[in-house]
Amino acid sequence: MKIKTLYLVWAFIVLIISHGCKTKDNNTNSIEGKVEALLSEMTIEEKIGQMNQYNGFWDVTGPAPSGGDAKMKYEHIKKGWVGSMLNVRGAKQVREIQKLAVEGSRLGIPILFGLDVIHGYKTIAPIPLAEAASWDLKAIKKSARTAAIEASAIGINWTFAPMVDVSRDARWGRVMEGSGEDPYLGAKIGIARIKGFQGKDLSAPNTIAACAKHFAGYGFAEAGRDYNTVDIGTSTLYNIILPPFKAAVENNVKTIMNSFNILNGIPSTGNASLMRDILKDEWGFKGFVISDWASIAEMTQHGFSKDLKDAAEVAVKAGCDMDMESYGYIKYLAELVKAGKVDEKLIDDAARRILRVKFELGLFDDPYKYCNEEREKELIYHKDHMEAALDMARKSIVLLKNEKQLLPLKKNQKKIAVIGALAADKNSPLGSWRIGSDDNTAVSVIEGLKNHKVSFSYAKGANLVIEQPTFTTVVKINKTDKSGFPEAVKLAQSSEVVIMVLGEHGFQTGEGRSRTDLGLPGVQQELLEAVYKVNRNIVLVLMNGRPLTITWADEHIPAIVEAWQLGTQTGNAVAQVLFGDYNPSGKLTMSFPRSVGQVPIYYNHYSTGRGNNVEGNVFWSHYIDESNSPLYPFGYGLSYSKFDYSNLTIDDTDKNKIKVSVTVTNSSKTAGEEVTQLYIHDRTASVARPVKELKGFKKYRLAPDESKTITFELGPKELGFYNNNGKFIVEKGDFDVMVGSNSQSGLKGEFTL
Ligand code: BGC
Repeated sequence: MKIKTLYLVWAFIVLIISHGCKTKDNNTNSIEGKVEALLSEMTIEEKIGQMNQYNGFWDVTGPAPSGGDAKMKYEHIKKGWVGSMLNVRGAKQVREIQKLAVEGSRLGIPILFGLDVIHGYKTIAPIPLAEAASWDLKAIKKSARTAAIEASAIGINWTFAPMVDVSRDARWGRVMEGSGEDPYLGAKIGIARIKGFQGKDLSAPNTIAACAKHFAGYGFAEAGRDYNTVDIGTSTLYNIILPPFKAAVENNVKTIMNSFNILNGIPSTGNASLMRDILKDEWGFKGFVISDWASIAEMTQHGFSKDLKDAAEVAVKAGCDMDMESYGYIKYLAELVKAGKVDEKLIDDAARRILRVKFELGLFDDPYKYCNEEREKELIYHKDHMEAALDMARKSIVLLKNEKQLLPLKKNQKKIAVIGALAADKNSPLGSWRIGSDDNTAVSVIEGLKNHKVSFSYAKGANLVIEQPTFTTVVKINKTDKSGFPEAVKLAQSSEVVIMVLGEHGFQTGEGRSRTDLGLPGVQQELLEAVYKVNRNIVLVLMNGRPLTITWADEHIPAIVEAWQLGTQTGNAVAQVLFGDYNPSGKLTMSFPRSVGQVPIYYNHYSTGRGNNVEGNVFWSHYIDESNSPLYPFGYGLSYSKFDYSNLTIDDTDKNKIKVSVTVTNSSKTAGEEVTQLYIHDRTASVARPVKELKGFKKYRLAPDESKTITFELGPKELGFYNNNGKFIVEKGDFDVMVGSNSQSGLKGEFTL
C-alpha cells in the first residue's frame, strides 16, 4: 500500500515535471503559447464570443441596431460572449464593464474597448486632412501619440484609426478623415499615426491598438456619395487603394476594419479575395479584421446574402474576424459550425487573432491598466497636449494666396474688421469625428486674436447654420437670412483690412456628409462679395473639411489662408500665422477643383490619347467651359519665405539607387520651412503609368539666404508598380523626374533604368 502510494506520488511528480517541460517546449510563456493554452479551454460559444463586439449603452455612431438591449449585452458579457465593446468610455465606466467580464465570466477574458479616436480624445488636434497638409511625419506621429495618451487614460485600448482610404473626390464627406489623394504620402502618414498610437511597446499603459480602415475601396464611392458602389480596375486597386494598407500591415498595425461598400460587385465585408488572399495570406497579417458598423448585416441589402445567417457565414469565411453591431456571429456562428457549414478552424483562427492582440496589450496581466481615474484627471487637457495641438494646428495651415504680401499683417495694424459666424464659433473648428470632445472647447479665431493682443471689431454678417448641429443630426444651413449684412458691410467700409472667416461647419464633413456643391455654403459667398464691394483688402480665412471650389475668391481676394478645422487650438494657430509669428509651411494633399464638374480631380492621372490642346481643335480631352487643371494642385502651398530651386543633378549609375538632388535657397529675409517633393513618370510601361507620381519628399527649415542640397534615392520600391495581376514589377525604360515645391512646378530631368 505504502509502495503504491509512493508510486502514485512519484508518478504525479513525473507528470508535473513532464507537463512543465512540455509547457516549456510549447513555450507557454510566449504570447502564442498563452493564446493556444487559453483557446484550448474555450467552448465554441466562448470563442465566438470573442468575435462579437457590442456598442456601449450610449453614443451610437451608426443606425441603432434592431436586436439588442443593455440587459442582453450585460448577460452576454457575463457569459464571456463579448470580445469587445465600442463607445464605452471613462475610466470608471470601462472598469465596471471590464470587471463584469473579468470577474463575472467563466474564463475572465478581458474586453477590448474601442473608440473612434480620430484626431484627439478631449484635446482635439486638426482634422486628419489638415494634419496631412503639414507633411510633417514627426508632428503627425506626436499628435497620434497625444491622442493615445488621453484615450488610454479613460479606459480605451483600441482606436478605429487611422483611416487610410485614398480619395480623389471632395464630394465625399470622409475626406476630412484621411490623408488625401496620394497613396505614397498616405502610406507614410498612416505609418506615422500607427506608430503614434501603438508606440514602441503595446503593453505600456499609454499605448493603444490602431486600426487601418476601411478595407477596401471605400474612398472611391461613385459620385462621392457615402456608402455608394465602388467599381474600379485592378490597377487602381493595387497601385492606389491597397498600398497604405500594405504599409500599415508591414508596420505592425494590430487591426484592420473592412468597409461598407461593394467592390466590383462583392461587399468588402464578404470579400475573401481581399481579406484572406491578399491581407492574410499574401501580406501575412497577424492581427484581426473587424467589420464596419453592421456591415455584415448590410450584405443582405447589397443583394449578396440571403439573410443575416447567410451573411455571417459569408463574412467569417471571407476572413472578417469580429462583428461590429450586426449580431450575426453571436446569433448564428455556433449553429453554422454545428451544422458543418463553417469549419471550427475558422473560428479558432479568428479567436486566436483577437486573443493575441489582448495579450499583446497586456490586458491579461492587468485588465484595469487603462482605468485609472487619477490618471484620467491628470492627463485630460494636459498642457503638453495643448502645446502639441497648437503646434500641429500651425503646421496644418496652408497659405493659398498672398498678393502684394498682404500677409503677415503688422502687429500695429489699425482698424481690423473680423467678419463671419465661424470667427466666433467655438464648436465647428473642432471638426467632425471628435466623439470624446467637450462642445465649444475650441479657441475661436476671435479669442485667438484677443490672446494675441490684436485689436479689432467684429460683425457676424450672417449665421452659417440655423441650429447647432451634432455628429448625429442633419446640418441645417442658413440659406436666406442676410439681415446681418449691412452691419458687416458698414464695418468693412470703415476698416483698413478685413479678416473674413468663412467655410463649412465642422459637421458638414465626416460620415454621411457628401455634398454636390463645393462652394461656400449658405449666404457666405454673397457676404464675401458684398464686403468686397466696399473693401478689397480682405484676408480670407477658410475653415473647411474638404477642398472647396473658391474660384471667385481666388480671382478677387488678395490673401487666402486655408485653416481647415484645426481643433482645440484653432484661434491661437490662426492668429500666429496671420501676424507672422508662425510662417506657414503646409501644402495641400488634395487638389482643389475649379468647379465641382471636374471632380474626381487628382494630380496622378493618366495621359489620354488626346491630351494636347492645338489651337482651334475641338477633339481633345477637355471641357468646353472649364480648364482641366485644378485651382490649387496637390502639394501646393505658399510661405512667407521664398524658396528657389536650382542645380538638379541625377546620378543613375547604380540602377538600384538612383540619386537625384537639387539645391534649394531661401531668398527671402524670413526663415521658413519648405517641403520639397520628387515626382517620377515612367514614360512607357506594360501597364500605362500616371503622368506623375510622388516618390519622395523632405521637409526642412532654411534661414534667410541659406541654401541646402536635398537628395533623394530611388530604388525598385519607388520605380516599380503593380501589374494587372497584382504582381509588383520593375521595368527597364526611360523616366522623367521632377523636383520642386508642388506637383505642377519644379526642375525637370530624366534617367534610364
Ligand atoms: C464608421 C467607422 C467607425 C465605426 C464605429 C462606422 O460608421 O464607418 O469608421 O469606426 O462606425 O464608430
